[in-house]
Formats: sequence, C-alpha cells, structure tokens
Amino acid sequence: MEKYLINPNHKISKINKDIYGHFSEHLGRCIYEGIYVGENSLIPNVNGMRIDVVNALKDMGIPVLRWPGGCFADEYHWKDGIGEKSSRKKMINTHWGGVVEDNSFGTHEYFELCRQLGCDAYINGNVGSGTVREMNEWVEYMTFDGVSPMAELRKKNGSEKPWKVKYFGVGNESWGCGGNMDPEYYGCLYKRYNTYVRNYDSNNKIKRIACGANVDDYHWTREVMDKVKHHAQGISLHYYTIPGDTWEHKGSATEFDTKEYYKTVAKAYRIDELINNHIAVMDSVNPQKWVNLVVDEWGTWYDVEPGTNPGFLYQQNTMRDAMVAALTLNIFNKHSDRIMMANIAQTVNVLQAMILTDAENMVLTPTYYVFKMFKEHQDNMLLGSFITTDIIDSKEAKRSCPQLIESASIDENGIIYSTVVNVSDKKTAKIKCQIADRKVESIKAYVLSGDIHDRNDFDNADVVKIKEFSNFRQLKDGFTATLPACSVVKFIIE
Ligand code: AHR
Repeated sequence: MEKYLINPNHKISKINKDIYGHFSEHLGRCIYEGIYVGENSLIPNVNGMRIDVVNALKDMGIPVLRWPGGCFADEYHWKDGIGEKSSRKKMINTHWGGVVEDNSFGTHEYFELCRQLGCDAYINGNVGSGTVREMNEWVEYMTFDGVSPMAELRKKNGSEKPWKVKYFGVGNESWGCGGNMDPEYYGCLYKRYNTYVRNYDSNNKIKRIACGANVDDYHWTREVMDKVKHHAQGISLHYYTIPGDTWEHKGSATEFDTKEYYKTVAKAYRIDELINNHIAVMDSVNPQKWVNLVVDEWGTWYDVEPGTNPGFLYQQNTMRDAMVAALTLNIFNKHSDRIMMANIAQTVNVLQAMILTDAENMVLTPTYYVFKMFKEHQDNMLLGSFITTDIIDSKEAKRSCPQLIESASIDENGIIYSTVVNVSDKKTAKIKCQIADRKVESIKAYVLSGDIHDRNDFDNADVVKIKEFSNFRQLKDGFTATLPACSVVKFIIE
C-alpha cells in the first residue's frame, strides 16, 4: 500500500490557468479544416469556426491559445491576413506541407475564435523574417484605441474596438526555424524588437515572452536571460517526447510494444529535470525571479499516420498519450510557482491533438479527456503533497519514471482536487491517502483508464472516456483506493 499525504495547510502557489493552454499553428489541418472551415462550409459553423470543435474546447476549459506558430510565425506577415478575403495574398506554406495558404484565417478571425472560446490571446510575432516596424504596427493594430493609422485600418476592416493581447512572443525557435541565431545575437535583437511592442492600453499590459531553449540547451537560457531579464515576463522552453532515437524514425503513434511505452513515458518524465535545470539557470542570472518559464510547445511527436502528408504532422492518440499528458500536467502543477503558461502542441489534427476531424466528423482523444479531468486545477492553489511509489526503469530511454505521479490543489471553497496517475501498463496500485487536519465529508472520483493502446477513432469514438470511479473507501481523514493500471484518477474531496 503506497502512502499519499496531502497538506491543505501548505498552500504553495497559484496554478496559473494558462498552464492548461493550447497551441494552434497554420500547419496541416489544425487551423484550416480543424477549426476554421469558412462561413460557406456545409459543416455547421459560426463565422467560419466549427461549432463542434469550439464547443468541445470550451467544455474542456481552454484558457489561452497560441497563434500563428511555431515555425510559421517567423514567416507570417500579418498584413497578408486582413481586409477583403478575396484580395488576400495566396502563397505556399513552405514550412508545412507545401500547400496553398490563402490567408483567409488572419488576425480578425483569430480574435473571433478567442471570443467564441472565451480564452485569452497569445500572439507569436515574427523576428526571423519580419521587421521591427511590422511587429510594432501589428501590436498597434490589435491594441490601440486612439487615433493612428493602424487603429484606423482595423476599424476599416470591421473591428471598431481593439482586442486584448495577454501574451506576445518575440520570435519562435530563433535558434532554428526562426532564424538560426546565436543566443547573444537573439538576446540583443529581442531587446530591439520588444522596445516597439508598446503597451497602448494601461489595462492591457502585454506579457512578453522571449524565445527560450530547446530541450537541455542551458547555454541558450543563460545567454538570453542575461540580455532580456529587464525586458521579458517569460522565457520559453520547447520539449517534445519522441520515442524514437532519430528524427527519421520517431516511432508509430499506435504500434508500439511495452518497452517503447516505458521509453516514451520515461522520456516524458524528463520534463521535470528540464524545468528544474532551466529554472536554476534563470535564477542564477536573475535571482529576483522577474522572468517566468513558459513551456509553449510540449507533447508527443511520432511518425505521421501512414498515407498522410508528412508535412501535416497528423498522428493518432492513445492511452499512452493520456499518460504523457497527465504526468506532465501534474509536474507543471508542482512547478506552478515559476511556470506561467504552457501550450501543448497542437489543438486539432496536429501532433498530440485534443481533437481529430475528418470532414464533418470529430473525435475527442484520450489527451482531450485528461485536460478535461484536470480543468478544476486551473487557478487553484497548489497544495503540499507526496506519494510513495515504485520507480520504473526504462533501459531503452536510459531513464526512469515513478509509477505514481500526483498533484493536489484547493479551490476557494476549500474543495481539494487530487489527480493521481498510475503509468504501469499492468499493475494496479493500492494507495492510502491522509489529508492533514481535515475531516473528510464526501469524496467523488473519476477515472480515465484502458490498455496502453486504446484510442478513439472515427469508427469507434467512445473507447476511451471519463467514467465515475468507485474503487475507493472513504476514511475519516482521507481514503484508500485501488488505481487501475494505465490510469489517471481524479478525487474531489470535500
Ligand atoms: O509544433 C510543430 C513545430 O515544432 C513548431 O512549428 C516549431 O516551433 C517546433 O519545431
């Protein structure tokens, strides 16, 4: 029996709801088809946005959406995406699949999407191939309410009032697709571009995100932090879980054995080490902790589904992905003192998606259900908690991962939410939870579980879904429970 302790007297930090954020790029069928089908589509839509997808994302609790990229951001020229649709430029999306980008989804459409979703905006600006003036004018266009050429242009295009931009990314992957820069050079460039990302509205102080490191590039974090510490509120980190050892063989999303399963899970768990190390570097440069960490790209990355465009990054999603999502979100919760936002890649039809679409059909993935289960953590206070657990070694990953990974939070009414993941493919886990200084009145619990390969697809959309969980016994000051193998269980404790 593993011991699980939750201490409601130890409120550690607020879990910023934006940790549960998402990412949508002009890539494959994420924006076009997946979210935006246009006003004239036969697929039911409001102002071009799919009603089914918007409703599902709202129900899941999407707090913030990053757009327009990714690598696409550093090739995106925002003026191509405003004005009469028929006269918007058509071009090739050279980065992703070589398809025609007709710019029918642009700034106005993005803010309409955020309005329908009820979520905040995270815009990623173009440093790689854009000008300072272009970035300056985009921010003016989006946020200025006074008399100015860009405010006039926005009004002419149908939006009288400006929008709110909560976060603005100054470049993306500037070490790679965003310009192949050195960190010292990017850091200087950041300061220059960022100067002209103006706060036009005193009620909209934009949080600026500097482009941070890939995986374990601590040198990048150190050098960029040194330059931007007075000028940024966030610095990013990108980390993808790729089971394969080469870029050409990332592994299949659906065909994998137990060894590959544990390799994936152990690689996903590495994010804990990466967060600790990057934060240590950030703090060594800036002990005042002015800058927070933003994990604005994370998730699994496999070989594309056979027969699909390799540039579209379309992959299926199984209970393995649910385990990766659940353990990662528990880790983010535990680091909520320094993680301001995170954005899983990507919302629909790309990489570790929440939703897959095929024409008018839609499937909710196991990952979707994890986000839905965890949504009550948003804006709660993280509680001190600890669980004893076996450690699972993966020789293939040369890493290990705890069998049980948990986090617990409390809302303003004193209700405790605990999410416990059991990553074992076969073994159930017996736990005994004790909650300090608390007389437990009632407990409700929900579970997502299955075989590691279980998935939802268009013929069988309900294989994996959240169910009520009853395999627990309430105690005076806690509970005992038996967690199924490959599961995440949420306990709601009053
Ligand atoms: O999410 C897919 C791509 O991965 C993004 O465009 C890029 O930023 C990263 O390399």
